[in-house]
Amino acid sequence: AVYRDKETAAVKVAARIAAIIKRKQQAGEQAVLGLATGATPVGVYEELVRLHREEGLSFRNVVTFNLDEYYPMQPTSAQSYVTFMHENLFDHIDIAPENVHIPDGTLAPEDVAAFCLNYERQIEEAGGLDLQLLGIGRTGHVGFNEPGSAPNSGTRLVTLDDLTRRDASRDFGGKEYVPRKAITMGIGTIFQAREILLLAWSGKKAPIIKKAVEGEVSSEVPATYLQLAENVEFIVDAEAAAEL
Ligand code: GLP
Repeated sequence: AVYRDKETAAVKVAARIAAIIKRKQQAGEQAVLGLATGATPVGVYEELVRLHREEGLSFRNVVTFNLDEYYPMQPTSAQSYVTFMHENLFDHIDIAPENVHIPDGTLAPEDVAAFCLNYERQIEEAGGLDLQLLGIGRTGHVGFNEPGSAPNSGTRLVTLDDLTRRDASRDFGGKEYVPRKAITMGIGTIFQAREILLLAWSGKKAPIIKKAVEGEVSSEVPATYLQLAENVEFIVDAEAAAEL
C-alpha cells in the first residue's frame, strides 16, 4: 500500500497492531510481535504509545521479539537497540519486562550459537510471531540479513556490510565505532511470521524499494525474498514508491 505520507501510514500500521492485541486479549491469548529498530518504525511506536495513554490500549498480553542487535553491544549504550526500544516504546507502555526479547550483544563468542537457537525456540514457544515489522537498509537487508543471506537462515551472528556501517556511522560518531557484527533473526525466522509488514519512507529508500518489489529474487538483495511470501505487505509513502 502507498500512503500520502509516513504519518498516515504509521497510524494505519499501529491500528493493525492494536487490532491484533485486542483480538488476542478477547481470546485470552498473547499477541506475539516481531519488532524493528531504525528511524522507520518510530512513528508507529509513537502512535502505539498514544493509543496506550489516550485510548487505554494495554500491552499486558503482548510478547515481543526484536529483529536484531549489534554485536558486541552493551544494552546500556546509547546506540544499543535495547536503549532504542526502551526510549521509543517499552518505557511508555505497560508491557511486562519478562515479555521483551532482544538479541544479547554482550554474549561471549562461544555462547552466541546456543543463544540464537534458544531465541528461535522462545519464539516458537510463545506461539510464533503474529506480526513482524520490518524496515529496509540500503543494501536490501531486512533485520541485519545482508546480501548473501540464505532464504532459510535462522537467528545468527552476521557480518555487517560496509554500506550498512557507513549508514550507521552518524549514530556512532564515525564508521570506525560501528560494530562489525550483529545478531539477527534470519530470513527463515521472518518468513514464519503470520503477517509481515515492510515499511519504508522517503526518496532515499526509492531505489531499494524498486529492487525489493520488482527486482529478480536473489540473495544479492535479501528483501527480494519477500516476493515469495504470501503474507507480506510493503507499506510505503509516496516518495519511497516513486520508482515503482
Ligand atoms: C538498521 C536496522 C534495520 C533497519 C535499517 C534501516 O540496519 N538493523 O532493521 O531496517 O537500519 O534503518 P532506517 O529505518 O533508520 O532507515
